[in-house]
Formats: sequence, structure tokens, C-alpha cells
Amino acid sequence: MVENSDAELIAKITALKKRANAVILVHNYQLGEVQDIADFVGDSLELSQKAARTDADVIVFCGVHFMAETASILCPDKIVLLPDMHAGCPMADMVTAKRLREKKKEHPKATVVCYINSSAAVKAESDICCTSANAVRLVEKLTNASEILFVPDQYLGNYVATKTGKEMILWPGYCPSHIRIQPQDISRQKAEHPQAKAVVHPECRPEVIALADEVLSTGGMIRLARENDLEEMIVGTEIGIIHRLRKENPEKRFFPASEQAVCPRMKLITLETVLWSLEFMTNQV
Ligand code: 13P
Ligand code: SF4
Repeated sequence: MVENSDAELIAKITALKKRANAVILVHNYQLGEVQDIADFVGDSLELSQKAARTDADVIVFCGVHFMAETASILCPDKIVLLPDMHAGCPMADMVTAKRLREKKKEHPKATVVCYINSSAAVKAESDICCTSANAVRLVEKLTNASEILFVPDQYLGNYVATKTGKEMILWPGYCPSHIRIQPQDISRQKAEHPQAKAVVHPECRPEVIALADEVLSTGGMIRLARENDLEEMIVGTEIGIIHRLRKENPEKRFFPASEQAVCPRMKLITLETVLWSLEFMTNQV
């Protein structure tokens, strides 16, 4: 079998994209070569906003299933392709609509806030949907809620509860990639790079968040890295983001908090699977 070089794959993807009037949206955790063919790279909130505004006929979504599903909900008239259907988010699978309905029966007055990392069926059972970029802002506005049930990420929920001072019932879900970042990883990196700003994602454990200088979504980290006075950053999130941080800021230094913070499902999407899905319009969400 003759394998295509990256340059050949990219040339074919570019031609097919034009033919299909497609746009390629890519999450910050994707492989570097996939980020490099993107029309837009961003966090969950930015990608859903981008999907909602695009005038393309086809959206090739390089991320995980709930992200492509969100794009499809926002753009029901467009074809949304997920190049590998196995690219799911394990945290999103930690809550089902059935189990959420049961929990709601225990707390009939609760306002249900779901993290965007959840299925469409779970979103349909919820009152509000947030991302890591706007969760604190949205929960702050729930001034009349007597009870708040937050699903599925207990750590993001805990962070939001701490920031807003609101008591919340937390679903026991978590991100298997972010919990690999340990407090000692941050302490070690801080000792090695005393000038660096330690920035972590709110999906991290509270003990990790307690050691951070900033707690931000991946889009927030990208914006912070552009600031003039920042020279070094300890990055407490999935390591795929390092590619973009270094590419956009070649004069600055970025240190992953832990090399273990890898999301294997995000890495299922490759130039080959992007080409294949565009060629055959396959894996429609
Ligand atoms: P962001 O919205 O910050 O990009 O996070 C998405 C995600 O899946 C984090 O694990
Ligand atoms: Fe899900 Fe965690 Fe992967 Fe994000 S990094 S997609 S939360 S498993």
C-alpha cells in the first residue's frame, strides 16, 4: 500500500474542502498537524460560536463527539462530520439522561446546569448549558435558584461553587486526563521555573487549582499567553495545547504541568481520517 505524505494529504484535503464548501474546526487539544490545517482553532465555547456563524455547507469537526453534536444542534441544516466516531469524551459518558432524570426526582426544585461536555440527551434534561469559559458567569446569574445541580464534572462544579459562593449538588464525574495532573507536578514546575505563571484548567483537582496563579479555559490560556509581560507559563491542561502556544508565541516558554495529561480520544483524529471523512462524507453527526 502506498502511503500519502503529509503534504499530499493536505493538498487532497484542501481540494475536497473547496469542492464541498467545508470548514475545518479544530479543538486546542488536537494533534499539531490537525491544528495546522484548521480554518479555526479554539475552545469549546469559541468553536460552537464559530459553528453557529459559518456559512459553509459542511463542518469537519476535529474534536470529540459532544463538540460535533453541539455544532449539529446549532446548525441543523449543515452536514457535521466527526472524522472518527470513537472520539468520545469519557467524562461526558459519566452521566446519562436516565440517571439525570432519577437525580432530578430527588431534587425536583433544582436548576440543572450541565457542562457542554455532555450528550444532547443530557442537555435536553438540563436548564442551562455552560462551558469552562462561561460557567462562573452563568451560575452567578442564577440568583433565584434554590438548589443547583451541576453535571457531570465535579471539579469544574466545585470550582464554580467556590468562585460564586453558591452551594451546588455535584455529579461525581471527572476528566480522566486532567486528574492525572497532581499538586506535586505544579510544585515541581514552580520550583524549576520560579518566574513562570502557573495556569490550570478548571477540570483539574481542587488541590491543583489551589496552587495555580490562574484558572482558565483553553481559549483563556491562549489569550493570556499573548500578554506582553508573560514570558513563561506552566500549562496545567491537556498537552495538545502546547503546540498552539509555542507556534503563536515562539519567543516565550511553555512547560506542560504533566506529560501524562493526554486525552487519547482527541488524538484519534488524524490527517488521514479528516481526508477520509471529507472524501466520503462519512461519520455524519
Ligand atoms: P475548553 O472548553 O476549555 O477548551 O475545554 C474542553 C475540554 O474538553 C476540556 O477537557
Ligand atoms: Fe473529555 Fe477530558 Fe478529553 Fe476534555 S480532555 S475531551 S474532558 S476526556
